[in-house]
Amino acid sequence: MAVSSEVKEDYFLSTIGAVFENENENSESDINDDLSTVETVFEIQDCVEFPKKKIVLKHTLSSSVDMVGLQVWRGAFLLADFILHHQHIFKDKLVVELAGGTGFTAIVAGLVAKQVISTDVDRGNILSLLSSNLEKNLPGGNVECRELDFFWDAFPDSISSELRDSDVILAADVVYDKNITRHFFKTVQNILNFGGKTIFIAIERRLWTDNHGNLVAPNFDIFKEHLEELSNLQINESELLVEELKTDFPKYFEYNRVPELTLWKIVLAKL
Ligand SMILES: C[S@@+](CC[C@H](N)C(=O)[O-])C[C@H]1O[C@@H](n2cnc3c(N)ncnc32)[C@H](O)[C@@H]1O
Repeated sequence: MAVSSEVKEDYFLSTIGAVFENENENSESDINDDLSTVETVFEIQDCVEFPKKKIVLKHTLSSSVDMVGLQVWRGAFLLADFILHHQHIFKDKLVVELAGGTGFTAIVAGLVAKQVISTDVDRGNILSLLSSNLEKNLPGGNVECRELDFFWDAFPDSISSELRDSDVILAADVVYDKNITRHFFKTVQNILNFGGKTIFIAIERRLWTDNHGNLVAPNFDIFKEHLEELSNLQINESELLVEELKTDFPKYFEYNRVPELTLWKIVLAKL
């Protein structure tokens, strides 16, 4: 099954497919789709620090469910706007992004932060596209890509010290499949065990019409359940503060900031 990012509609005025409807239809053959990449220039607008800065991004306009990291999603824009409007949070910080996809958010973070590691699953050409987008926009710079799979039970040496030392963790649009969501939250908890992090998660509350004609948001509901469980945990004698942030900060990119886009902050606070 092919899925198309909502951004395809925002930018390219094409018809959007049924995104993430059939999460169980993935198969090995999906990984080898050969949809061609396009290059899009996204300009930062009305930002004093980065006037008319252009981000040149290679991405696909649709993909199989397994390869959605080749597309750019609205959550990536929301987080990018958040970073540009709250630069003090990211300045001089080590940032790790989970499920970075095309690298759009990491590139914006890299304009502000000291160092950014954008991670994703090692599947098909996801990491090579991510790496080439980072290198093209911030050549030889402070942003690099690494493998990080939510299904790992422990972090390998290749990423563990970066996670331990990181100040800020970013994740955009990682909730679209029950199983991945469960493992995403396990990963978040493992990262929080290192202590001293602030996590920002952008998630779109995608609505569906169920068989009875009701509007439902099953993946978002599952996300909220996991968030609730997380907020009840104590980690290293600290409690977790989970907060939904307002999304009324300025837009620095052209995209449709739909009301379903939500933003969450998780911090560890000493008891
Ligand atoms: C909808 S895309 C979002 C990509 C990007 N953050 C954005 O907003 O444009 C979901 C991302 O989750 C990644 N992903 C899927 N399974 C994963 C796993 N097991 N571990 C880590 N990342 C995974 C995909 O490769 C993809 O990059």
